[in-house]
Amino acid sequence: MKYTLITGASSGIGLHLAHIFAKNNHNLILAARNKDVLSLLKENLESLYKVNVKIMPLDIAGEAGAANLYEAIRKEQLRVDILINNAGIGYHGKFLEKESQSDLDMINLNIITPTILTKLFLQDMLKIGGGKIFNIASTAGFQSGPLMSVYYGTKSYLINFSEGVAEEVRDSNVKVIALCPGPTKTSFEKMNRIEKGLFKNFHIAEPGDVAKYLYKNIDTNKDVLVHGRLNKFMIFLTKFIPRKINLNLIKKIQEKK
Ligand SMILES: NC(=O)c1ccc[n+]([C@@H]2O[C@H](COP(=O)([O-])OP(=O)(O)OC[C@H]3O[C@@H](n4cnc5c(N)ncnc54)[C@H](OP(=O)(O)O)[C@@H]3O)[C@@H](O)[C@H]2O)c1
Repeated sequence: MKYTLITGASSGIGLHLAHIFAKNNHNLILAARNKDVLSLLKENLESLYKVNVKIMPLDIAGEAGAANLYEAIRKEQLRVDILINNAGIGYHGKFLEKESQSDLDMINLNIITPTILTKLFLQDMLKIGGGKIFNIASTAGFQSGPLMSVYYGTKSYLINFSEGVAEEVRDSNVKVIALCPGPTKTSFEKMNRIEKGLFKNFHIAEPGDVAKYLYKNIDTNKDVLVHGRLNKFMIFLTKFIPRKINLNLIKKIQEKK
């Protein structure tokens, strides 16, 4: 039996991905820390759709977290043909004023975890002759982000990492894709108070729309997907704006948060 593994499935974009994949008859493995939410979600999805849902209530941050998740899946002999590295966190504030621990937490969950999971599942997918890995990055990954420097940096890594690996496995039946949402209405977005900043004048996407966009593009040939026309346009524009000017613009946006 084939499974789609979604990390960070207990809320936001991951929760909507779980619904849309279940609706389209994908058996699911759902990972996040909150066991109660995952148990309820499993019950809900299995009652609504004809799918098998396994839950992995684990802290998947860092090398040990990623390895624990992989081992738990291997123990149950589940075959993952789609991996969605979605779990991610972001903190706002001046780099020097934040505890190093919050930097490490972001680096562990946003960089180390998807890197290790990509390596482990990519090897398996190549052996079985096919698969897809979606890494949920961000439009933040196309530039530097003063006042969210580490978060923006983790997402830049994820885009470049995904593109590099995608090229390495180009001749196989395994695809690696970075999906970049812009500001999206989730607990993450609330935590970063985007609505209070300049973004109040921007369109903030619904997490369900981001999930639908990923599913609609499940067979894409692109290495990098950007959700939303305005986001695509802004990324296109940044190619023509001098880096210093762009940096100041992002700083102003972040200062309003
Ligand atoms: N919202 C935005 O504006 C936005 C924009 C661009 C990109 N993104 C990216 O989209 C992805 C999803 O974000 P979201 O907005 O949907 O955030 P969210 O609602 O805060 O969801 C984050 C998910 O990650 C899980 N998680 C956090 N720490 C974890 C850990 N140590 N181990 C296992 N699971 C963990 C959380 O579940 P538990 O708490 O139960 O563990 C939750 O299910 C992230 O990678 C984010 O960077 C978001």
